[in-house]
Order: sequence, then C-alpha cells, then structure tokens
Amino acid sequence: MAESMRGLHRSHRCTELSSANIGETVTVMGWVQKSRNKGGIIFVDLRDRSGLLQIIFEESDCGAEHFAKAEKLRSEFVIAVVGKVEARSGAVNENLATGDIEIRALEVRILSEAETPPFPIEENSKTKEELRLKYRYLDLRRPDLQRNLMMRSHVATLTREFLAKEGFLEIETPMLTKSTPEGARDYLVPSRVHPGNFYALPQSPQLFKQLLMVSGYDRYFQIVKCFRDEDLRADRQPEFTQIDMELSFVDVEDVLDVNERLLQKLFKEVKGIDISLPIQRMTWQEAMDRFGSDKPDTRFGMELKNVSDIVKGCGFSVFTGALENGGSVRGINAEGQGEMPRKKIDALVDYAKGFGAKGLAYIAIQADGTRKSSFAKFMTDEEMDALIAAMDGKNGDLLLFAADKNKVVYDVLGNLRLEIARNLDILDKNQYNFLWVTEFPLLEYSEEEGRYTAMHHPFTMPMEEDLDLLETDPGKVRAKAYDIVLNGTEIGGGSVRIFQNHVQEKMFEVLGFSKEDAYDRFGFLLNAFKYGVPPHAGLAYGLDRLVMLMAGEDSIRDVIAFPKVKDASCLMTDAPNVVDAKQLDELMIAIQSVEE
Ligand code: AMO
Ligand code: AMP
Repeated sequence: MAESMRGLHRSHRCTELSSANIGETVTVMGWVQKSRNKGGIIFVDLRDRSGLLQIIFEESDCGAEHFAKAEKLRSEFVIAVVGKVEARSGAVNENLATGDIEIRALEVRILSEAETPPFPIEENSKTKEELRLKYRYLDLRRPDLQRNLMMRSHVATLTREFLAKEGFLEIETPMLTKSTPEGARDYLVPSRVHPGNFYALPQSPQLFKQLLMVSGYDRYFQIVKCFRDEDLRADRQPEFTQIDMELSFVDVEDVLDVNERLLQKLFKEVKGIDISLPIQRMTWQEAMDRFGSDKPDTRFGMELKNVSDIVKGCGFSVFTGALENGGSVRGINAEGQGEMPRKKIDALVDYAKGFGAKGLAYIAIQADGTRKSSFAKFMTDEEMDALIAAMDGKNGDLLLFAADKNKVVYDVLGNLRLEIARNLDILDKNQYNFLWVTEFPLLEYSEEEGRYTAMHHPFTMPMEEDLDLLETDPGKVRAKAYDIVLNGTEIGGGSVRIFQNHVQEKMFEVLGFSKEDAYDRFGFLLNAFKYGVPPHAGLAYGLDRLVMLMAGEDSIRDVIAFPKVKDASCLMTDAPNVVDAKQLDELMIAIQSVEE
C-alpha cells in the first residue's frame, strides 16, 4: 500500500551525502536498486539520479513496524528513509561515491510498490534495444542514460549562457509553417480550417532566422526541434534538435570565431578537455583529395593518394579505362597490413562494392618483400615499382586502389579507410579532433533530377571570386559554406547568406525554379529583402550528435529521451498510428487503401 510523504522533506540526494555528514539525521528518497535480507539486518541500495546510497535496517534502530516494511522491499519500490549517517561498518566500497558511509534507518515509508521490471535497471544493459525502447521510462532509469541526459542538459544550459553573453537573443520560430528546404522530405500537418491545405514542420528555422536579421535582431539563437522525413541511421532521427544561430554584419571569420569559443567552453566545462584554438581548417577539395570525405576523421592517417599520373600508360585496362572516362585512380596504404589473410581482403573488396566500386585492386607486400597482387599480371615490374613508390609502400604494407569516376573513388576509399581503422580498433574515443571544412561546392548535379541542386541550401552565398561562373560553369562555383566536423561526424554546418535579391534570383534560376515558382515558395523572403537587409550568416549544430560524441556513444538514440527506431516509429507510444474516422472527416482526408 502506498504511503504519503506527508511531514517528510527530502534533505539530500543520495550522493550529496558524504563522510562530512556523519552523525546527521537525513531524509532520502528514491528507488530500491537492491535489497538483501541477512536475517536481522537488511541492506538496501537506494538509487536516485545522483547515484547509489547504502541503507541499513535493524529492528533495534527502527522498531518492529518499520523493520517489517523493510522486509517487504523489492527492486524498484519507491521509498523514503529517515536515518542517521554513519561511517560504513563493512568494507568501504571504492566503486561508489558514497562507499565510505551508510544510513542507519530510523523510519521507512513505501511511497510506491513496483512490479518486477521486464529487464534489470543496470548500467551497460545487455537487454535488446527494442525491449528497452518499449519501456523507455524504465530504460531511462539506467545510470548511463541518466548521465547522458544530464550531460545534454548541461550542454544546453552552457550554450544559453555563452550565447546570451555574446549578445544573442533567444527567439522562437513557428513549428506550423511552410516548407523550408534542407534536402529532406517534409512532415506535413493537415489544416482543418483550410481543407486540402497543409503546414510543413520545419526542416530547420532557416528562413525565419534570416527574416529576424531583416528585422534587426542582429544575433539570434534557438535550441530547436527540426523535422526531416529521411532514412534513419545511427546519427539521424526524424525529429532532432539544433543549436541554431544567425548573425548580422558578419563574414565567415566572425561565425567561426564565436563558434570555436562556444565549443571550447562546452568541452572544457563538460569534459574537462582543452581545445586549442583556432580549430584546423581545410577546404572541401583538400578534404576530398586527402580523406575522400567532406567530414574526415583526422584521428588517423591512411590518406588517399592520386596515382593517376603514375598509371596513365600502364597495361591494366581497369586503370586506364577509368582515366579515359575522366575519372581517376587513387589508393590508400594500410601500413603493416600486408599479411592480411585473403579472406579479409575479399571482405574489404565486398565492402568497397557496397559503395559503388566495381572492384578493388590490391598489392599486399609481404614482410620479405614478395608481392601478392590482383593485377600484377597486367603491369610491368617497373610500373609496379613506380606505383608502390608513389604509395610509400614498404615491406609489410597493404596497398588498395580504386579506379572510377572521382565521386565513386572518393566515396569508396574514404569509407574503406574508416572500415580498416574500425577493424584495427585504432579510433581513440578519448581523442577529439575538430575540423572546419570550408569552401564547399555551391551546387551538386543531380542525375536523378537532371538539374543542379543546392549542396547546403538555396540561400548560401557563392564565393565572390566565383560569382561569374554561376552563368558559365555552375558546378565549379564554391560557396561561403562551412561544416564543423568532430572525429568524422558532421556536428554542424552553416553559411554566409545571399542578401542581394539579384543573386538570390540568379540562384533560383540555376536551380531550375521559374520566377513564379520562387515567389510562390519563398516570396516572403524575397519581398523582405526589398526593405533593407543586413549581410548575415549563421550556423546550426546537431545537438544530439554533439552530445553523442561528448558522451562517447555510438548512436544519437542514447542521448535522446524518447527516440524513434529505424522505421520512424516510437515503440513506447506506437506512434504513428491510425486516427478516428471523425478526425479525418474534419480534415476532409480520405485514406487510400493501404497495402500491407
Ligand atoms: P544542416 O542541414 O547541415 O544545416 O543541419 C545542421 C546540423 O543538424 C544535424 N542534423 C541532424 N541530426 C540528427 N538527425 C538528423 N536527421 C539531422 N539532420 C541534420 C547535423 C547538421 O550538421 N539551416 C542550416 C544551418 C545554417 O545554414 O545555418 C541547416 O539546417 O549535425
Ligand atoms: P579483373 O580483370 O576484372 O579480374 O580485375 C582485376 C582486379 O582489379 C581485381 O582485383 C578487381 O577487383 C580489380 N578491379 C576491378 N575494377 C576495379 C576498379 N574500378 N577499381 C579498382 N580495382 C578494380
């Protein structure tokens, strides 16, 4: 039977107590982690979000009535205990913050009983994630998740503090709005008042934050939910949180500067880690050429080398064919992996094929200098020597080559590099390598749509020196866009914005929007720009990704209280779900038959 806590006030959280409190009478409340009855003496581990505390019940201290209640305690009961802090009578528990004390109970109240939970509430749970997500409220009791969410809260608080000091105003923008393109599908919300019309949930507050600059708010930020209907991955959720900001009268340098200082503060105060400034910068082109990725993990080398010139005239048609088609031949050197078993090399070839490679050519240089190669028979000895020299290949090294269109070669080798590093377990979770990637291409050609699409979004400013190319060679235009990358994950991105209408109109034209289309979709922005607009720029972090990396987790689900699973459903609430016919009628929506 549940008792009330009338007359009791919690005096401390579990781990707020220490040997400094010995002799005090305190009141603690929380969940029973474990209860052990040793006959005449009962030990209870009490848990709250701060940690664990040992309580001892003996009838001589608490009397028969309370001792009888203590005998009933089971895991996850919620209790209040009044007791005296004492030095621990048994051995000190070094693993516990409160390992040198215990509470001798004088009184206990059972505030709530509990059924046996479907899985144990413990750190590093071995329970399947599906079951944990179904009972997420229990999963969230586990100390690792509690630490993650407390860290997330800390990051948000520090961010608000820092940005407020830097002159940023926190301003909310609407959730029921019009489509803001960030490259994903929109989540739509039907309007009851305007049947057949839909709001879009924001993919980001992009247009509103630019309008706030037009309105003179100068510096804006928001910690804000964004919605994108795209395929989920470990670092992608359909709703996620951005730390979003926009600044007026600034250029690239100003945005990078304030953000470097923000990151420095967060890592110092949350992790005790010093980030030395300035953060390293690399142009997009350099990142692709050296790492095959626009979000390189710079914690290890194994950089790409372009060997196109070396293999130009060789006899291996895979190489020469790729060059004739305007592609390239590049390689990586997995140093010391020359003796990798054939099976493992084949697994790497298969992995590469998953990224569009037609194959993967290799030279495995054995410790004694003999070579095993998948293409030596097509090459002369001199050609092989030159290729190995270009790759700095030494005895015991494994050289891997991809020949294809640049895009495929980058993607294959960029991912292969990471796969090998993961297999060798050389990625140090305690090392934090930040990198700005700058000068992204403005546009990307979409074969599927047969037109250029914006690489960042359509409001991103081209680099001044490339403006003329917008007419003649749009694919070559670089943008004033930047991403912040941490250990190979893009944690944030932004750009300087177009603020002249004629450039924005030109941009829409290149993207294949007619003037009417552009005004139809973004007229409010284009019109606003007619009334005096300051040069402005901004950036947004994925808060979930940032905290995931700070917490050393592999999935953003571990830093989100109520995440969704791969098919974008919530296992706890069963959302999305069917709705009443009446609700649909009000919205004038009819469901086409759904094929199961
Ligand atoms: P962008 O689209 O790069 O930029 O998004 C900014 C950051 O948000 C995070 N992110 C995600 N996190 C989890 N799940 C997702 N589905 C997801 N999608 C993005 C990433 C990313 O770096 N309006 C621009 C910013 C600007 O230009 O100021 C924008 O949204 O960490
Ligand atoms: P083949 O003559 O097709 O048997 O290819 C010889 C070797 O070249 C094999 O190891 C293939 O995996 C490899 N290979 C095939 N296509 C490519 C490619 N596009 N890039 C790199 N290696 C390739």
